[in-house]
Amino acid sequence: MPRPKVRTYGKKKCIDAACTIFGEESPSLISSSGTVRDPLSDVTSQLSKLNVQHEEVDNDEDDWLPSNGSEVTGQHHQVNSESQGQSHKRSIDASDQSSTRAIYDGSVAYTASSDDSSIKELSLDDIVLKPLTETYKKDRGYSLRITNWDDLIPQGADVEKIAEASFAEVYRVSIDGQSSILKLMQLKIPSDPLSATSKSAIEVETVVSEIRLMNALTEHPGFVTFKEAHLVRGKPCPAIIRAYCNCRKWSPANGTSEFPNPQFFLPNALFLVIELGDAGIVLDDVPVQNIHQLWDIFIGVIISLGCAELWFKFEHRDLHESNICIKFGEPKPIDGENPSQKYGLSGIRTTIIDYGLSRATLQNDDRVYYDMDSDLAIFHGSPGHTQFDTYRRMRSHLFTGERKMHPKAWHDEQSKAWNEGHTWREYIPYTNVLWIKYLLGYLKKNFRDSGGNLEDLRRFEKDTTELKRRLDPRTLVKNGAFTSAIDVSIYVQDMEWITDTQITELD
Ligand SMILES: Nc1ncnc2c1ncn2[C@@H]1O[C@H](COP(=O)(O)OP(=O)(O)OP(=O)(O)O)[C@@H](O)[C@H]1O
Ligand SMILES: [Mg+2]
Repeated sequence: MPRPKVRTYGKKKCIDAACTIFGEESPSLISSSGTVRDPLSDVTSQLSKLNVQHEEVDNDEDDWLPSNGSEVTGQHHQVNSESQGQSHKRSIDASDQSSTRAIYDGSVAYTASSDDSSIKELSLDDIVLKPLTETYKKDRGYSLRITNWDDLIPQGADVEKIAEASFAEVYRVSIDGQSSILKLMQLKIPSDPLSATSKSAIEVETVVSEIRLMNALTEHPGFVTFKEAHLVRGKPCPAIIRAYCNCRKWSPANGTSEFPNPQFFLPNALFLVIELGDAGIVLDDVPVQNIHQLWDIFIGVIISLGCAELWFKFEHRDLHESNICIKFGEPKPIDGENPSQKYGLSGIRTTIIDYGLSRATLQNDDRVYYDMDSDLAIFHGSPGHTQFDTYRRMRSHLFTGERKMHPKAWHDEQSKAWNEGHTWREYIPYTNVLWIKYLLGYLKKNFRDSGGNLEDLRRFEKDTTELKRRLDPRTLVKNGAFTSAIDVSIYVQDMEWITDTQITELD
């Protein structure tokens, strides 16, 4: 589906590909190469690969434990600049680098408002910005543009700060009943010496893989819409400053904000602003109160992940409840024709966000990923908390091929030598299975805590007994253990929880 050539805020773009409509939230099944994809036939074609045998196992392991009180906070991307540089050198392979070399042409485009001094300053930053500007131009076909705050946030827009992430503040900008999400990241650049010591500023190389992944997945059902990225120079506009000051959850007044007050930024501060479709509310903030909602969230995420595996050998690697967004719609009447159907009855729509730790093979064969070994802190979260056990399970599996989780103490610096040559560049779709298992446990707990009907939950658990067995790390592959989200998607289709028509209509 071609995107409408209307943009209702920001500077008017001269390049069609950049033209997105504010609030547009309907990714199509058309890939970035222009070919129409049919997830059903893709997934169905994998069916023949399944040769399932059954064996009962004791399944008491998946009791979901929340990550409250964990030793690891949301700051898990924080790495020292030395190891960061190393990890990102490795995050694009040799062939990727040679293929991008010819493309760089000083790819930062300037708006009419850029004066001579800012151009001079930017040229000093070019080398640092190069990994971002090169890949942006390569993937999008046009240069990353410098915008100013007034162009980005139109007069009269309502701006609300909705989240603080590891290195980003997230704002919702609404106007005329439509909304967009802006992720603001201050970049560490030479022309802004203060940024070098700022705890909240981020190395340019750290954001490259996430932007490339957003660009690749934007058209695909169940993944966040990536509208545009902007470089913005100087102190944010008054609307942002007001939203920062008025934010209650991350409040500067009571010291719960990790970010500096934007009014104190100097004119040479440089921000990367990622403009996304508004995907709604994070699952963490949604009480899942009826069983149709639980089914829709669970199946929606499985199918999206399965399709992304097929298209991009995608692994999310961080799919907890703050990286899944929910939008509510009208519940659909139950289709009496298909008594097994579970999906599509609540009106809920799920969107997967945050590819900070994710991995994919792009259509030009570039491997894009974050080297999770560049900072082992993420593997040192409190033992027994399911989210942090899931990171440890991913790393244990990457290194050993086994499904046994090595404990926190195992994941020390010394353990880097035990990788048997395996790196995070590899495609190991079992990580998606681990996060599906995580999601199942989380949803059941959320439902129970939200006062959901316990009889409905018992029926759900009965219906998912076999699926749960096959998600269990103790189940052997020869006995049906899932190895990928594609496997799980096939199971969901075989059970007729989602209809063929629904899969082709996913949009
Ligand atoms: N497109 C979106 N629609 C709605 N909310 C969003 C969107 N993108 C981000 N958010 C909100 O902002 C939060 C942080 O965004 P995101 O997870 O992408 O950042 P991050 O830097 O990768 O975070 P972290 O490293 O802390 O997980 C999300 O948990 C969510 O609350
Ligand atoms: Mg996140």
